[in-house]
Amino acid sequence: MKIKLFSSLTIVIFMLALNPVHAQTQSSQALEAKISGIIKKLTLEEKISMLHANSIFGTAGVPRLGVPGLMTDDGPLGVREDLKEGWGSANLTTDSATFFPNGSALAATWNPGLAYRYGHDMGEEARWRKKWIMLVPAFNIARTPLCGRTYEYYSEDPFLNSRLAVQAVNGIQSQGIAACVKHFAANNQEVERGRVSVELDERTLREIYLPAFKATVTEANAWTIMSAYNKIRGVFCSESPYLLNTILKGEWKFKGIVISDWGGTHSTVNAANNGMDLEMGSGGNYSKYFFAQPLLDSVKAGKVSMAVIDEKIHRILWVMYHTVMAANPPAGKINTPEHVKTAYDIAAESIVLLKNEQHLLPLNTGNLKSIAVIGDNATEMFHLGGFGAGVKARYEVTALAGLQNRLGNAVAISYAQGYSGVYKPQRRDTGNKYNKPDSALIAQAVALAKKSDMAIVFIGGNREWESEGRDRKDLTLPFGEQQLVDAVTSANAKTIVVVVAGAPYDLGKIKKNNSTVVWSWYNGSENGNALADVLLGKVNPSGRLPFTFPNELKDSPAHALNAYPGTDLKVEYKEGILVGYRWFDTRKIEPMYCFGYGLSYTNYKYAALHTGKTSYTKAENITATIKVTNTGKYAGKETVQLYISKPNSAVERADKELKAFKKVSIAAGQTASVTLSIPVKDLAYFDNKTNKWVFEPGKYTLLAGASSRDIKGTASVVVK
Ligand code: BGC
Repeated sequence: MKIKLFSSLTIVIFMLALNPVHAQTQSSQALEAKISGIIKKLTLEEKISMLHANSIFGTAGVPRLGVPGLMTDDGPLGVREDLKEGWGSANLTTDSATFFPNGSALAATWNPGLAYRYGHDMGEEARWRKKWIMLVPAFNIARTPLCGRTYEYYSEDPFLNSRLAVQAVNGIQSQGIAACVKHFAANNQEVERGRVSVELDERTLREIYLPAFKATVTEANAWTIMSAYNKIRGVFCSESPYLLNTILKGEWKFKGIVISDWGGTHSTVNAANNGMDLEMGSGGNYSKYFFAQPLLDSVKAGKVSMAVIDEKIHRILWVMYHTVMAANPPAGKINTPEHVKTAYDIAAESIVLLKNEQHLLPLNTGNLKSIAVIGDNATEMFHLGGFGAGVKARYEVTALAGLQNRLGNAVAISYAQGYSGVYKPQRRDTGNKYNKPDSALIAQAVALAKKSDMAIVFIGGNREWESEGRDRKDLTLPFGEQQLVDAVTSANAKTIVVVVAGAPYDLGKIKKNNSTVVWSWYNGSENGNALADVLLGKVNPSGRLPFTFPNELKDSPAHALNAYPGTDLKVEYKEGILVGYRWFDTRKIEPMYCFGYGLSYTNYKYAALHTGKTSYTKAENITATIKVTNTGKYAGKETVQLYISKPNSAVERADKELKAFKKVSIAAGQTASVTLSIPVKDLAYFDNKTNKWVFEPGKYTLLAGASSRDIKGTASVVVK
């Protein structure tokens, strides 16, 4: 009865404090009041000035009302250096940042916790640099291995993409910096990206190309999204009422800003009425932008209503109140030891051991006197280059420097370039002339390999060869790298091949002829240190491929069906939902390396897969447990992948689909009991006829394994 001692006002305050939802409503009401207060005071001209770029990455503020401009920045490798108008460097000495590993490297970690740290740390750096919107993460599906931006993006699987993207957004936004998820949607090739129309059925859109976007909006509350350059079904994504108004703002209740890709707006009235909020671009006369004077004129002419303009301003102010205008924002930080550690941890967990037949790895330094380090990629840096994403890294440890750092004087390391990775793209360039071996460089490399105990050859792509704005022509290793590998391998049987790249290449000959193959990436500031630690066994490799490596390009779905890069500016996604391993597994085509593949220095033994129950209802989560024992000598991290298969479905289904995964650390000799959970509702398919998600009752098979093709345990459940 003590409560009677309180006044009723005290009780209300007490209840409010206990009820965060109410507190939230209160604060969002206060926020609404502030936003509408500003909107009432803004003139039409001031509103229009907030809806388009006024510099290469910025927008205008309204100083008289205390509204600042918004500064955006790329992403995804780190907070980009400051640029002058026209994309040249501003040549500052204060804008270096941490270089984080590229998108497919992050995906290869299969570790959403690392995606969170990546976002968190980049958010801290963005805050330090006063960039309020980071144009990150980018996660278009790897439909073709040739896409020039495969290295920026995550994977070929919508579920893996969603789990990583959600955490990257959570991390960035925890620092009061808006994530800008991109590119919405189906921007899966660079060839004709600004004009091509993607033709795909609704099921394919909903099951493959939208899930990660949906997850970042509905689960992580992404504050901004970037529309893609391409068209879908004949309509530019930047003015698609279906994508922007119906799906994003309607179905997913997106509250933030739709930002155009740079120069990706094509109209004023259509774009404004169909959901675009903020027009960005690459310089030029900003007052002539579609969302500048032409938008002002269109409002005056009654073609765009004031309500539409106010809604856009509302969205912009709402994002500003979470970022540049936030009360008590976290402090920014740059290049801290924690950021370096994150870059290192991602790099270390991303490296994929493809083959280790001779057990050359981990390196046995006890009887190793000399190593020949060969290849341009051993000394190449990857933070800048090509077109698009780049970061002025405060430093970047090359592979050669990493080995020198870790081995000191214990082993004599000598270097030969082996090939020159200089690539200057030209119009109508076939790329072939860049495949010529350099016999003089190869001869030097061979001589060095002969007199060394062991050779490590670094080949692969680089930031010019893989780039935004163009796709690769084929999967061939460039710059005569194959000839270099062949020559060095015949000179020294103890040759390790390290491929550094962001997308699949043709490794057929290397897979066949070489005993030891490691896959690494454009792996951030700590690249060389992480790689050396993997080679030396200080880190047990735990990266798993985020996409399928085909034996031949024509095995890949888009290429098998002659559905890339399209004709007459239309690209038909004929493979439908059968993207990546879904295609290879369903059509029973042997890949070179399958999705989810990667070896370790230890071995894991899987016991039987058990489900929590044998029968589930629609509202429940299926649980599945499998015990994994580390039977080798090294502690390691294993990623248990859980796929689902629907026998006798009413519609075509992929042979299997990833629905859950978990990465666990297991000490040598220890067993981990790994439990994964799948919401039954995630088993639904999207029905093209009724335009709805359909839940199909009946029997489902769960397949748990170490990769999409190394299934260790299966179990069946019935869902009702
Ligand atoms: C890219 C975007 C990028 C923007 C700004 C565009 O060319 O497609 O991903 O954020 O430029 O640099």
